[in-house]
Amino acid sequence: MTKDQVLMYLRLCGGRYLSGGELAEKLGVSRTAVWKAVGQLRADGLLIESSPKKGYRLQSEGDALSESGIRLYLRHGGLQLRVYRTISSTNTTLKQLAEHGAEEGCVLLAEEQTAGRGRLGRSFHSPPRSGLYMSLLLRPQLSAREATRITACAAVAVAEAVEALTGKRAEIKWVNDVLVDGKKVCGILTEGAINIETGGMQYVIVGIGINIRTPEGGFPEELRPIAGALQTEAEGEDLRCRLAAEVLDRLMDFYGMLPEDGCYEAYKERSGILGREINILPLNGEPIPATAMDIEPDYSLRVRLADGTEKNLSSGEVSIRPMR
Ligand code: BTN
Repeated sequence: MTKDQVLMYLRLCGGRYLSGGELAEKLGVSRTAVWKAVGQLRADGLLIESSPKKGYRLQSEGDALSESGIRLYLRHGGLQLRVYRTISSTNTTLKQLAEHGAEEGCVLLAEEQTAGRGRLGRSFHSPPRSGLYMSLLLRPQLSAREATRITACAAVAVAEAVEALTGKRAEIKWVNDVLVDGKKVCGILTEGAINIETGGMQYVIVGIGINIRTPEGGFPEELRPIAGALQTEAEGEDLRCRLAAEVLDRLMDFYGMLPEDGCYEAYKERSGILGREINILPLNGEPIPATAMDIEPDYSLRVRLADGTEKNLSSGEVSIRPMR
């Protein structure tokens, strides 16, 4: 697309001017096409200065999450990206699109969610200018049981992408929270519809919310003890476009290997809870103390209870007990 190529050349110029004529020649398009592409990039939120004599200059990429910004880093060209400034929930909207026949590879990304949803019916705090909120639509040829691996793949994809971009060690807290320095920086909500006739999946939606910066005014009181962010205000460039691309590429790579499971070992190796004292948190009732023993190949968590018996948890919530 002309707009991606224009952005590539402007970036290569590192903030210096490039004339409209030169750009048009390099790309083999008209000056009008260059002018239109610049307009689209501005609409995406990029700050591009223009001067009648000198041409165009990329002043700043702003803080914008943009399709062109993401595509610059994205290897999987078949994904269709839609970026929203604000949306109720990327999962909810994508579910509606999926019901109306949207294709595999449709990705919704947003700068803010007004009704972000978390696991177990909770809400997911999704304020503007601080996070990356995205959902990917898949239509896997997998049984419902096999499809549960997609969530684990997403957790590994996020952990690897976070490490690649920040250099910080990222752990996975069963089932699928990603933690940095013991604080949750990412939550994943996978939803889907089963085809009753075949027992396979009609569609799967992988929703990923990553806290990139601490929100203005900090996290709400109740999230402060558990939530963290990848960057402080002072830490350089906005990571959202690169992170979105890194996560999507890795997730699509893992997805391409299924039903062969390419991420079990990586998931287990990053699992921050093995050997730790935990509490199993039932939906109703008191926490149950246990020790996290192992992650089974189906991603269930083997725990040992206080009376020495062991059992496998296939879903739910646990918390890590502080070390005494
Ligand atoms: C959790 O930690 O409980 C899961 C949080 C999942 C949040 C993401 S943000 C993008 C997508 N849209 C939503 O409404 N939820 C998921």
